[in-house]
Amino acid sequence: MTPRTPAAVPLLLVLALALLGSGCSGGVEGTPGATGLRDPYFPGLGNGGYDVTHYGLKLDVDPVAGHLRGTATITARATRHLSAFHLDLAGLHVESASVEGRPAAVNRAGKELTIRPGAAVEDRLREGRTFTTVVRYAGSPQALTDADGVQEGWLPTADGSVALGEPTGSMAWFPGNHHPSDKAAYDIEVTVPEPLTAVSNGELVSRRTVNGRTAFHWRTAEPMATYPATVAVGEFTVRRSRTPDGVRLLTAVDPESEAASEDVLAEIPAVLTWAAERFGPYPFASAGAIVEREEDAAYALETQNRPFFPGPPDTALLVHELAHQWFGDSVTPKSWRDMWLNEGFATYAEWLWAADHDGVPVEESFAEAYEDEANWAFPPAGPPSASDLSAPPVYGRGAMVVHRIRRTMDDDGAFFALVRGWTEKYRHGNASTDDFTAYVEEETGQDLTALWDAWLYGGGRPPVEG
Ligand code: TRP
Ligand code: ZN
Repeated sequence: MTPRTPAAVPLLLVLALALLGSGCSGGVEGTPGATGLRDPYFPGLGNGGYDVTHYGLKLDVDPVAGHLRGTATITARATRHLSAFHLDLAGLHVESASVEGRPAAVNRAGKELTIRPGAAVEDRLREGRTFTTVVRYAGSPQALTDADGVQEGWLPTADGSVALGEPTGSMAWFPGNHHPSDKAAYDIEVTVPEPLTAVSNGELVSRRTVNGRTAFHWRTAEPMATYPATVAVGEFTVRRSRTPDGVRLLTAVDPESEAASEDVLAEIPAVLTWAAERFGPYPFASAGAIVEREEDAAYALETQNRPFFPGPPDTALLVHELAHQWFGDSVTPKSWRDMWLNEGFATYAEWLWAADHDGVPVEESFAEAYEDEANWAFPPAGPPSASDLSAPPVYGRGAMVVHRIRRTMDDDGAFFALVRGWTEKYRHGNASTDDFTAYVEEETGQDLTALWDAWLYGGGRPPVEG
């Protein structure tokens, strides 16, 4: 209470005034949402105070000029009464923003946009309410350099561009809550000049050409984090089919990569059927692949529904990225510390495939990983810094953790039931390392503290028979 308060003012009135005064502007009672979600590796990533349920992105892309004009319609539920909130956006110029149809003030500080809705709509941002924000923006979307020196974001390709978002690149092309813990549905409509194609996640719901420009409207109904979202613009040969299980398939292949990727892409249905038997039902309505040219990017990525490959993949890489549809895209890390749950399982899927198809026993893959010095640089559940998130221990040692769990179990049937139960329990959700260890201990009825300490958290190389 301030010294200026007259003693005679009744306490209740003082409290009411204090509450009113706590909003930053115009008597709004809410408080601003946090600028970040305190991710252990990217503390400023994502934003607090709301939960996005749907992104409606309309993008007009001029690949020659490298220009993009976008309208993002973001539907979100307030998780507390907000007076203002943040969105992440890297580069690009914000032209205007509105909340619930009323103009909103926008403030820009680096990659953080602060949106301050007008007092007229303050009631619509009370806890539990759903509100809509529209952001109009434009500019030349940029490639961002990761902590490990790799490029992500909006990357120019030989005949267009591709958006790759792991771990933080999606903020280069749309404003949003760019932390893996906030998953949402998407409608992504991309307009490109003829004869180019725009490929994205989910299913193509419409395609219309007007005055030499074609709008491709893609819909993702199942929840998606922002990092597996993509838009690939270029010349593509698009093929559609269905798997024996009825999953719609769509592959988009750069004509230069077509001949060399035909055989491997023909394996997609068999890989998905094989994976579904081991990991549980395929989690999405459609699948496929996007194949660009080798020089277009430095790595593949598990973009949802349709993994991205720079050039024709080999079968192991195809298996890896398709396995990520279960491990990463459907069951998504709660924070970037849980990255090994993605890469450990995707690597283990490669080992399983090699055992079932190439006569390489999993024990052999395990032994090879165990001998590889690179896998012992740090424990998989604790990469020392953001630049280590894609380092070998996250992959190889992560897969070793999965195999050590398998070794504690009586039979393979029980092990695969455990894996299927995991993908079912957290299907379309988020899971952490703690969720995983608790789940495994509960399901197996074992105290696995020693296993976790030695293989998941501990430094150094545990004895192989330990
Ligand atoms: N997840 C990708 C894969 O394994 C690789 C990758 C791309 C990655 N960007 C990353 C891994 C950033 C960690 C961090 O196919
Ligand atoms: Zn991977």
